[in-house]
Amino acid sequence: MKLMVTGGAGFIGSNFVRYVYNNHPDVQIVVLDKLTYAGNKANIEDLLGDRVQLVVGDICDAPLVDKLMSEVDACVHYAAESHNDNSLIDPSPFLHSNVVGTYTLLEAARKYDVRFHHVSTDEVYGDLPLREDLPGHGEGKGEKFTTESRYNPSSPYSSTKAASDMLVHGWTRSFKVRATISNCSNNYGPYQHIEKFIPRQITNILSGITPKLYGTGKNVRDWIHTEDHSRAVWTILTKGKIGETYLIGANGEQDNKTVLEMILKQMGKSPDDYEQVKDRPGHDLRYAIDSTKLRTELGWTPQFTDFESGLKHTIDWYTEHEDWWRAEKDAVEAKYAKQGQ
Ligand code: NAD
Ligand code: DAU
Repeated sequence: MKLMVTGGAGFIGSNFVRYVYNNHPDVQIVVLDKLTYAGNKANIEDLLGDRVQLVVGDICDAPLVDKLMSEVDACVHYAAESHNDNSLIDPSPFLHSNVVGTYTLLEAARKYDVRFHHVSTDEVYGDLPLREDLPGHGEGKGEKFTTESRYNPSSPYSSTKAASDMLVHGWTRSFKVRATISNCSNNYGPYQHIEKFIPRQITNILSGITPKLYGTGKNVRDWIHTEDHSRAVWTILTKGKIGETYLIGANGEQDNKTVLEMILKQMGKSPDDYEQVKDRPGHDLRYAIDSTKLRTELGWTPQFTDFESGLKHTIDWYTEHEDWWRAEKDAVEAKYAKQGQ
């Protein structure tokens, strides 16, 4: 199989490329990545060669996308602007990459009848109430996102991802593009950009900077190790039913304050050694995924079920790979400082 992976030099995309490289030796991969601030050739440098090629380019570049799509059997689409906080400062790159980019890829997939998998987010469904605000503490029906949940995005980032999902639906139904969609919860693991919550706090501690918690820290995210996400996407690509959406999650709900306390403790600090900063406008309260469909229909199960141990490996990775993040740290923190965060 010849596979195009868009955004394959970013966090989740590069972990997917590594996963396929290690587990499926018959697959050739062409990564299409613009190498924005979030993309890094170093993430896949050791894999480049006969089986993995990197094309530096924009998914909105129709002639380039047309040429690459004509040469592959399948496309897994990760490329996107991915950070909510950035989308609140300037939404325009989100419209470009997430909406026009997905449209450009769909047109080419349609022309060459390429199998297309669209990687999306649970944030398209908006947020859920906190468990303590639900009757019976949320153990009943309806307390998690399912494929039946209503699209209700909150931020420029999540609304452009919702728009991209809708494009995939339209192209699947009207043009018979052989597409699937997955909506996954918050990933953690190696190669995540240090603007994001977990790596920001780890690298803050490693830099002698006090960790920063938005608001009270009661907001809940449903954490999944990026390698479990990669296996889920591979499973959907190879076994999923065309036209279907699958939700990916590993029952990893944690509130931000608890995650930060775990990081502090694991790094030998006092659990209250953090600063509460300005909250994110429109901050989604809680995400939680019901992944029953993926588990029962396609047989996927997560392997990283111990969050504290996954977190420990992630802390070790950032500690051992300071050369990977150090050069960007000052600029990332300066940007946050300007926002009061
Ligand atoms: P990331 O920001 O780390 O990486 C995005 C990659 O896309 C970068 O390599 C960047 O250079 C590339 N890119 C951006 N715009 C491009 C363009 N116009 N043309 C070509 N390449 C471009 O993001 P991530 O966290 O790895 O997320 C990857 C995908 O997974 C996104 O679609 C995101 O919505 C989705 N997702 C992320 C999470 C998460 O927790 N991070 C969860 C669910 C879904
Ligand atoms: O749910 C999936 C989504 O998860 C993906 O679609 C996004 O691409 C990905 O970035 C992530 O979005 P979040 O906004 O949930 O992730 P982030 O790492 O930015 O923040 C996680 C939580 O931590 C969120 O509630 C905000 C909070 N936070 C974040 C930062 C950067 C803090 O408390 N302090 C911080 O410094």
